[in-house]
Amino acid sequence: MPVYNEKDFIPKQAPGRFPATWEFQTQAPSNIAIIKYWGKKGMQLPMNASLSFLLPQSLTTTKASARLSDKISDKVKFTFLFDGKENASFSKKIAVFFERIVHYVPYVKRYEWTFESENNFPHSAGIASSASGFAALSKILIRLERTLYPEADEILLYHKTSFLARLGSGSASRSVTGTVAVWGTHPGIPGSNDLYAIDYPFEIHREFRRMTDLILLLEKEKKEVSSTTGHGLIDKHPFKHPRIDQARNNLSRLSEALQQGDWDSFGQITENEALTLHAMMMTSNPYFILMQPETLRWISLIWDFRNKTGIPVYFTLDAGANLHLIYPDVYEQKILSGLDELTQAEKIINRIRL
Ligand code: DP6
Repeated sequence: MPVYNEKDFIPKQAPGRFPATWEFQTQAPSNIAIIKYWGKKGMQLPMNASLSFLLPQSLTTTKASARLSDKISDKVKFTFLFDGKENASFSKKIAVFFERIVHYVPYVKRYEWTFESENNFPHSAGIASSASGFAALSKILIRLERTLYPEADEILLYHKTSFLARLGSGSASRSVTGTVAVWGTHPGIPGSNDLYAIDYPFEIHREFRRMTDLILLLEKEKKEVSSTTGHGLIDKHPFKHPRIDQARNNLSRLSEALQQGDWDSFGQITENEALTLHAMMMTSNPYFILMQPETLRWISLIWDFRNKTGIPVYFTLDAGANLHLIYPDVYEQKILSGLDELTQAEKIINRIRL
């Protein structure tokens, strides 16, 4: 598997011809990190390698309509509609995205764009909607690149999709790959690099073949501190270097557990990463807390249930209060009857298939 560098993603020549109008609709899933990305350097490069699972039922759908423009401007001209309405804060993020990527996709300037986007899950609630959103946009641009450059190398375009998505939101780089993605250089993962995410390259044990990520929607309000702000606090964080070491070791151990079918180690690392993420938030300057009383109440319910039954059900957290429960599908009935509040709780279920 070749590892590409930044220059490889710059088109070598202008396309032969541009269609006058162009339309494309696509979907991209969100993802849940098991090893967390928290802290970045340079232009959207991760401080440590992360590993995630796609959430195949938590999707952004985006339709793009492009019209060839008479004038080429420096800025990309676009209108972005979310749920049918213009959304100033999303549009601002997308404008920044285009500024960062235009060098690699200069052909986008030739068009005036309309994007219509929607999620099938609540956004800004600690479920990575920016991940699926930027992943969908990047898939659209790469589809156009494929049309303009029919000879382009498929593998390069596959990685370029993740490379572009990363420049929108780091976690988005992991939403355009296969089910298990690794983003960031790690000595034990061949091909891993900071510029784009890759498919986890080793065979995963059949123990993990059918598992569920159940998101408990404990809080649907917009969270008060964005991930981007949180990442920004890591540079001066007193635990920055220990965290880099911990993430590297956790990814090495997780990789072993995935290959050996070891749910106990998998779960222990998963919860350790989730709690570390929130511990980093609580110990940054300024410090903040994204967990809510309900988050802690559920963590203790899960721990009690697991201690009593030995059933492998573990939790993880994104940058928010909502808990993700991860377990092998075969235990679902027992988990639902043992944790009976789960039946009533508002939840999103994703079936992860390896
Ligand atoms: C806690 O990818 O949302 O979900 O790159 O600034 O857009 P930006 O941050 P973002 O950070 C996600 C952080 C996380 C952990 C993870 O998904 O790895």
